[in-house]
Amino acid sequence: MKKALITGVTGQDGSYLAELLLKKGYKVFALRRRTSTPNYENVEHIKEKLEWIDGDLTDLASLISAVKISNPDEVYNLAAQSFVATSWPQPIATGQITAMGVTNMLEAVRLSKPDARFYQASSSEMFGKVVETPQKETTPFYPRSPYGVAKVYGHWITVNYRESFNMFACSGILFNHESPRRGLEFVTRKVTDAAARIKLGLQNELRLGNLDARRDWGFAGDYVKAMWLMLQQDTPDDYVISTGETHTVQELVEIAFERVGLDWKDYVVIDEKFVRPAEVDLLLGDCTKAKKQLGWDLEVSFRDLVHMMVDEDLKKYEKFNIQKSFQ
Ligand code: NAP
Ligand code: GDD
Repeated sequence: MKKALITGVTGQDGSYLAELLLKKGYKVFALRRRTSTPNYENVEHIKEKLEWIDGDLTDLASLISAVKISNPDEVYNLAAQSFVATSWPQPIATGQITAMGVTNMLEAVRLSKPDARFYQASSSEMFGKVVETPQKETTPFYPRSPYGVAKVYGHWITVNYRESFNMFACSGILFNHESPRRGLEFVTRKVTDAAARIKLGLQNELRLGNLDARRDWGFAGDYVKAMWLMLQQDTPDDYVISTGETHTVQELVEIAFERVGLDWKDYVVIDEKFVRPAEVDLLLGDCTKAKKQLGWDLEVSFRDLVHMMVDEDLKKYEKFNIQKSFQ
């Protein structure tokens, strides 16, 4: 039985990856940090199947201990302060977790299980103010946020440990990927949640920032398969994972409101509070390498993804309303 250690299991990607690895027969160790209230919403259904280890990406001792306890064949480093907007008011915490946390995790592996295969969750946010379109593995980085800068560090330290210590370390440069488990602050989920709430009379308006930004949005369930595939290759490498389509935030809004039979223009209000100090205007990935070398492909289209998210949010609130009416 193969053993995997995942950081960030309570987040969106960690929950899908844990499901995938359990299905493949892995023993899955899950690093969790201390929180004041339990935070298992995304993994409630598999919580008892996971081997939980307490630790924090900023605490090297806890990571060394986690690697020793789990003795993993594969390590997936998904934990991060992952919300771009928060990285301006909290640049230092973002750097400590999202940048230096990667070195901590790599050191823990190097010191305790150097032959473990390592996956780093790199990001299309590193391309920032893009210097070429579409973006691929060789496109130079130009990060536009403290989060993007931190991810560039995490990316290069992963490459460096591969080249310096001959570690099997891979970096997946993943473009935006979403799901019904996405945090409510990210624009896709904020929009689908609001469309559902407005439809059910629970909310009157939706306040958004820049509607012109373009993203290459895919489904998280498809993307975690690519993470696993990267660690099954003969040699470690870096791969772009994307859909090869780009859509504006406005298109996202249009599809979500159309799904609930409403005109978005009646509800969306532009609020400067959600406009960023520096924006990433356009992301569009070229994942030819992943398709050829990993045999990876996606199954869920952008429109189907938005529909899936709206439908799940509707279901959640309809259930909530029924429960409320019995009180
Ligand atoms: P997410 O939902 O925000 O999950 C982040 C996870 O990291 C949570 O489990 C969180 O724990 C954990 N975490 C945060 N700080 C930690 C710390 N100091 N120590 C230990 N754990 C900590 O993020 P996601 O969307 O699943 O993304 C997974 C990874 O992929 C992240 O590294 C993200 O930056 C990267 N990425 C994401 C995308 C995307 O579109 N989703 C694209 C490219 C790259 P709590 O639950 O306790 O907060
Ligand atoms: N969150 C948010 N809220 N974004 C808004 C809003 C709003 O009210 N209005 C407009 N936007 C725009 C943002 O300015 C940005 O251009 C776009 O919507 C997407 O924002 P997010 O959903 O917050 O995602 P992100 O692209 O900044 O970052 C995500 O993708 C990265 C990969 O490119 C995160 O998942 C990162 O962790 C990930 O690395």
